[in-house]
Amino acid sequence: MAVIARHCPNITVTVVDISAERIAAWNDSDLDNLPIYEPGLAEVVGKARDKNLFFSTEVDKAIQEADIIFIAVNTPTKTYGKGKGMAADLTYVEQCARRIAKVATSDKIVVEKSTLPVRTAEAIQTILEQSPHNAQFEVLSNPEFLAEGTAVADLFKSDRVLIGGRRTPKGEQAVQALVDIYANWIPREKIVTTNVWSSELSKLVSNAFLAQRISSINSISAICEATGADVEEVAAAVGKDSRIGAKFLKTSVGFGGSCFQKDILNLVYLCQQYGLDEVADYWQGVISINDYQKNRFANRIQQALFNTVNGKKIAFWGWAFKKDTNDTRESAAIYVADQLLSEGAEIVVYDPKVSLARMQMDLQTLLEYRGETETDINGKLAKLYSVDSAAAACTKAHALAVITEWDVFQTQDFETIYTQMEKPAFVFDGRKILNHNQLQSIGFTAYEIGKATES
Ligand code: UDX
Repeated sequence: MAVIARHCPNITVTVVDISAERIAAWNDSDLDNLPIYEPGLAEVVGKARDKNLFFSTEVDKAIQEADIIFIAVNTPTKTYGKGKGMAADLTYVEQCARRIAKVATSDKIVVEKSTLPVRTAEAIQTILEQSPHNAQFEVLSNPEFLAEGTAVADLFKSDRVLIGGRRTPKGEQAVQALVDIYANWIPREKIVTTNVWSSELSKLVSNAFLAQRISSINSISAICEATGADVEEVAAAVGKDSRIGAKFLKTSVGFGGSCFQKDILNLVYLCQQYGLDEVADYWQGVISINDYQKNRFANRIQQALFNTVNGKKIAFWGWAFKKDTNDTRESAAIYVADQLLSEGAEIVVYDPKVSLARMQMDLQTLLEYRGETETDINGKLAKLYSVDSAAAACTKAHALAVITEWDVFQTQDFETIYTQMEKPAFVFDGRKILNHNQLQSIGFTAYEIGKATES
């Protein structure tokens, strides 16, 4: 929304939320206190705020005044009832639609910005049509393809903008209104218009394809470790084929983030609902390989540490699901930590942007979801620490695990770190960002994902 405001000075953008605390943070005079950390965001907000970009808790007023309303609320994976653990929870989307229906007194274009299951627009349209004020509504799908950490850059220079609408004169008119907004900064040929269902499905499929590439290369990383091939060399060779392309072939400890797993689960659920079991199984495989990769990394640590991590201290570099963000949703760190804590290890984490409270919350949420007892959960939480430097995490550690690819990890004083660690000192590089020749010459036993360890 901030990027729309920045590019369209003639349009007034009002962002509303029922959380007064969150809106206050968006209005904070110190732009460092915005509730989301994203490179470039503070600058964009700073330039447009209080000119044509406003943050407010006056939801009803904003609904009444708007011509176009974007619904951009959370659609987490359901944690209860039918579709638990797979389907998207549409509670918040439905609440928004009901509120709009109740409050709006004039015609509106309502845009689905949240990632939603296919055919949700139909449900929103039905709810809106219950409006007591005779207002007319046209629902569009306009999924977001930005990636965290590069969100502002992605929005300034999108590969494509996708807008789905009904193939009726009123639907086409609404689509055109949204096209005209994006055309202020996106070349027209990059604005793709489709029917509503194609647009909704394309968002799930885009994320599924991206995640599939990562699971593909991660599955190959296991073969590389077994055979002596180097996954980086394989990815470079394979990616040179222009039909395949080089992007999203970086092996890792497993993908995380708020979208990939959630959207694939959504796709799997959708397939199951339509009786397409083979298709569902195919996409479920992408998640299974991701789980396998996280387990494999934790197992590798345990195996190298003479088959036990009990009472041993493991340093984690990174907790965020990728660099340049404080977002930790579905981060591989949570799962790797859980596995090692279950085996009696102590985990000491350094992440430049993530607090210990956040890490504890992540772990607690996972363990509660799994139904672990309060005693077990507290036992694990008591063995999760965080420190304020990468070097401090390694003091008296038996092993260092690189979980997030923060740039700062590449420029540490490894000579000194080595002297501070228990011997033999192990490094497990889950992101392939360290100089392994250097580590080995210092004396570390260094393991790199996707490459056989020389014996
Ligand atoms: C993703 C999509 O990229 C974006 O288009 C969509 O709108 C939202 O979901 P995001 O989750 O922010 O964006 O991050 P992304 O950069 O895609 O990374 C997701 C995960 O995959 C991270 O854990 C990242 O470390 C991992 N990853 C990515 C790899 O392991 N290897 C890669 O080659 C690329």
